Amino acid sequence: MKILNVVGTRPNFVKIAPIMAEIARHPDLRGTLVHTGQHFDDAMSDAFFRDLDIPPPDHDLGVGPGTHAEQVARTMLAFEPVLETERPDWVVVVGDVNATLAATLVAVKRGVPVAHVEAGLRSFDRNMPEEINRVLTDAAADLLLTPSADADENLRREGIPESRIHRVGNVMIDTLLRRLPEAADRPVLRKIGLTPREYAVVTLHRPSNVDVPETLGGLLAIFGRIAERLPVIFPAHPRTRARIAEAGLVVPPGVQLLPPLGYLDFLKLWSESRLVLTDSGGLQEETTALGVPCLTLRERTERPVTVTQGTNRVVGTDAGTILSAVAETLATERLPIRPPALWDGHTASRIVAVLKTPTSP
Ligand code: UD1
Repeated sequence: MKILNVVGTRPNFVKIAPIMAEIARHPDLRGTLVHTGQHFDDAMSDAFFRDLDIPPPDHDLGVGPGTHAEQVARTMLAFEPVLETERPDWVVVVGDVNATLAATLVAVKRGVPVAHVEAGLRSFDRNMPEEINRVLTDAAADLLLTPSADADENLRREGIPESRIHRVGNVMIDTLLRRLPEAADRPVLRKIGLTPREYAVVTLHRPSNVDVPETLGGLLAIFGRIAERLPVIFPAHPRTRARIAEAGLVVPPGVQLLPPLGYLDFLKLWSESRLVLTDSGGLQEETTALGVPCLTLRERTERPVTVTQGTNRVVGTDAGTILSAVAETLATERLPIRPPALWDGHTASRIVAVLKTPTSP
C-alpha cells in the first residue's frame, strides 16, 4: 500500500514526523512525502526535518509565499502531476493550512482517498483562513481522523456519517513525548541566560494579531508590562518580524525578540517556562500535555479540550484581561497534568492501523 503524505508549513512537519516513522515500520507500506514549499526558510522548514528526522521530501513543489489564492492554486497545479506519477492508495493531509486544503481538493477530484489528520476542529470564526480550510477539507476528505470528542461532535453536526470519523488522538503529542528527553539536554536556557520557571514565552503570528499595527503595537506594550515582572522571550515568526519592522514598532525593554527556533530548542524553552502566551493552536495543545500554563491571545479556540481539561485560558487581546490572567497565573501553583484521552504518544500507530483496515473508505 502506498501512502502519500503532504506537508507545507512548520506545524505540519511536527505532525507528519511520527506518521512517516510509523509507516516505515510496516514492510507492507510505502510512504512518500510531498512538501508544498509554503514554508521555505531553513528555520521554518529544514530545521524541523533535521530535528525530527523526517526523510527529505520526495517532491518539493516550491510554491513559496503569496496570497491564499496564489498559494492554493499553485499547490493544486504542482500537486496534480505528482499524484498522477505516484498513484497512491491514500493521500494523508494534516492540520488546517493552505497545503492541507489544496492537496485534498486535487486528490478527491482524481478519486484518490484522502485521510485528514486533526479533523473536526472548529473555532466557529470564519474570519480565520484556517477555519475555511478545516471545514472544506473535512467536507471533502474520505477519512476524518480526530484528536478529541468535541471534534467528533462537530463533524456529526455537519452531517458527516459516523463511518468516516475515527478518533485517534493527537499526533503532535507523539512527537512531543518522543523528543522530550533530547530537548532536555539543549543548552538554550543557558545561552540566553534564563532560569527555569522564571520567564515567559510568547509566540504570535495570526493575521488578526499581527497584520493590524494598532493590535500588534498594543500586544507588544502588554508584553512590555509583563516584562516588568519576568523576562519575556519572543521567538518571532518571519511574518511577525516583518510586520513589526513595517509598522516601525519598538520592542519594549525586557522583551527579547529571537529568530524562529528549531523544534528541540523551542520545546526546551517553553516547557521550562513559567507561562506561555500565544496565538498558536499547536502550542495550546502542547502546553496542555505538559501542564504548562498557557494564555491564548485570541477570542476563541478550536481546541476547547485544552481549556476544559488542560492548562489553557482564552484571554483575547485586551490589556486588562491579559495582565490580570498573568498575575493570577504567577500567583498560582501548577495543577497536576490531566492530558485528554488518547494524547498518549501512540496516535501515529492508530492512524496507520485505520489506513490499513480494508473497510476504511
Ligand atoms: C501558515 C498557516 C497557519 C499556520 C502557520 C504556522 C495558512 C492559511 N496559514 O501561516 O495556519 O498556523 O503557517 O506557522 O496556511 N515566511 C517566510 N519564511 C517562511 C515562511 C513564511 O519568510 O519559511 C513569510 C512569508 O513572507 C509569508 C509570511 O511569512 O508571506 C506568512 O507565511 P504564510 O505561509 O503565508 O502564512 P503563515 O502566517 O506562516
